[in-house]
Amino acid sequence: MRNIVPVISGKGGVGKSSVAVNLAVSLANTGAKVALIDCDFYGPSIPTLMGGGQVIPDHEGKLIPPVKYGVKYISLGFFLQNPDDPVIWRGPMFNKALVQLFQDVSWGEVDYCIVDMPPGTGDAQISFSQAVQCAGAVIVTTPQEVALADVRKSINMLSKVNIPVLGIVENMSGLKLPDGSIQYIFGQGGGEKLSTMFNAPLLAQIPIEVSIREGGDTGLPVTAQDTNPASKIFAALALRLQGILDKNSKSQPQVQIFN
Ligand SMILES: Nc1ncnc2c1ncn2[C@@H]1O[C@H](COP(=O)(O)OP(=O)(O)OP(=O)(O)O)[C@@H](O)[C@H]1O
Ligand SMILES: [Mg+2]
Repeated sequence: MRNIVPVISGKGGVGKSSVAVNLAVSLANTGAKVALIDCDFYGPSIPTLMGGGQVIPDHEGKLIPPVKYGVKYISLGFFLQNPDDPVIWRGPMFNKALVQLFQDVSWGEVDYCIVDMPPGTGDAQISFSQAVQCAGAVIVTTPQEVALADVRKSINMLSKVNIPVLGIVENMSGLKLPDGSIQYIFGQGGGEKLSTMFNAPLLAQIPIEVSIREGGDTGLPVTAQDTNPASKIFAALALRLQGILDKNSKSQPQVQIFN
C-alpha cells in the first residue's frame, strides 16, 4: 500500500469525511487504485457517504472490501449489528482494530489510501501515527477563527508525531447566491492564513454546495456524478495532491505498516 493519507482536523464537523470521500473518488476517477479507510470508530460516516456496502470474508480469512465509484473502502460501521450501536473501546482495542483495517483486509495494490480520521487531537491520532507510516496529512478547516484555532493545535500535534502536512483544504469557503455573488458565511482567508503559517500549500477552497451535502446523504458523492460542477474542484484537489505525493514518493520507499 503506497501513499497513506489521513484527512485530519482539530475541529468536528468541518467536512473531513466529505472531503475524504470526494478526494478518494476523484483520485479513482484519474485511474489510480484507491482505498478509503474509516478510522472514525466512534462516529463512522463512510457507510452513509458511500451508500452502504458489504464486507465478505475470503477463503484465506481476509476480508474483501466493498468497491464503489472505483474505490475500495472499509468502516467499522459495517461490523456493527445495529448502526446505532455505540462503540465503547479503550486505547488497546482501538489500536488493534486500526491495524486490522489495514492488515486483515485484502486491499491488493493501492496507489493512494485516504483515511477519514475522527475530530480532535486525541488517542486516535496518536494510535494512528504509531501504527501506520503515512505519506502525510491533508488538513481540513473552515475559514473561521474558531476552526483555525483547533486546526493549529492539530497541526502542532502532527509535527510532534512526525506526520508531515501535505496541504490545507479550506471547506465551506463561501455560498454562491442566486444573483451570482458569494456570501462568506464562515468568513474569509482562513485557509490562506494557515497555509502561510505552516508553510503548506492551500490545496483547494471548496464552497458550500447543496449538492455536496446531498451527495453525502444519499451515498452518491458529487465526484461520482460527472456533470456536477463541484466535482471539478475535487478533481483539481486530487491532481494537486497526486502531484505532491508522486514527487515525494520518488525519494521514499514503499509505505510500511507497523504493528
Ligand atoms: N462543502 C460543503 N457544502 C455543503 N455541505 C457540506 C460541505 N462539506 C460538508 N458538508 C456537510 O456538513 C456536514 C459535516 O460534514 P462531515 O461529516 O464531512 O464533517 P466531519 O468533519 O467529518 O465531521 P466529524 O467531525 O463529525 O467527523 C455534513 O452534513 C456534510 O454533508
Ligand atoms: Mg467525519
